[in-house]
Amino acid sequence: MAGQRGIFITFEGTEGSGKTTQAELLGQWLADRDPVAVREPGGTELGERIREVLLYAGLEIDAEAEMYLFMASRRQLIAEVIEPALTKGQIVIADRYHDSTLAYQGGARGVPTTWPTTFPLPNVTFLLEGPVEAGLGRHEAAGKSKDRMEQESIDFHQKVAEAYAWLATNDPQRFIRLDATGSRDKIHLQVRDHVKPLLEGRD
Ligand code: TYD
Repeated sequence: MAGQRGIFITFEGTEGSGKTTQAELLGQWLADRDPVAVREPGGTELGERIREVLLYAGLEIDAEAEMYLFMASRRQLIAEVIEPALTKGQIVIADRYHDSTLAYQGGARGVPTTWPTTFPLPNVTFLLEGPVEAGLGRHEAAGKSKDRMEQESIDFHQKVAEAYAWLATNDPQRFIRLDATGSRDKIHLQVRDHVKPLLEGRD
């Protein structure tokens, strides 16, 4: 609807938690509303280059520098894609967003983090929670080569999961916690139930 701000939906979780699948299923369900799907890091030319540097260049990167790189990629994505889409009234579905930085760089690496005022807040954030080890195993079973973050220890990913849990506990208005061990269809129906109220009165 013209003049109405869009809806911003984000998916978060540790590796192999199934958030990418859920973001895609939601996008398919909302297809006739023309949602904009984004993934992080990446989604812009600058972002894709930063993604390459961050995940696959084999560089030693200082933890705080790593945080700024993720955030630089995000800011470019906000400026080029997210903010224009929300201004037009579109639905934006993000596979990872700033909570990833708060959990990975903040929680697991111990870098002091904040939420920049220029980063729009999601209307809702779905957090997929399940056993960390199983998730990492899923990635390996899929035969994917490990990026820099995936090479981190189980202990690191456990800290990420704990940080996510803490974030969700502290912002229950925005976070919806979902059991990632459920079937993908069951989880998708739960996602739909939480998105439906946001769509009311928008047709
Ligand atoms: P990606 O291949 O997109 O992983 P996934 O399929 O798990 O989303 O790689 C992104 C990796 O970068 C992932 O390990 C999480 C990590 N990451 C951060 O550490 N901080 C961030 O701000 C973001 C967006 C991702």
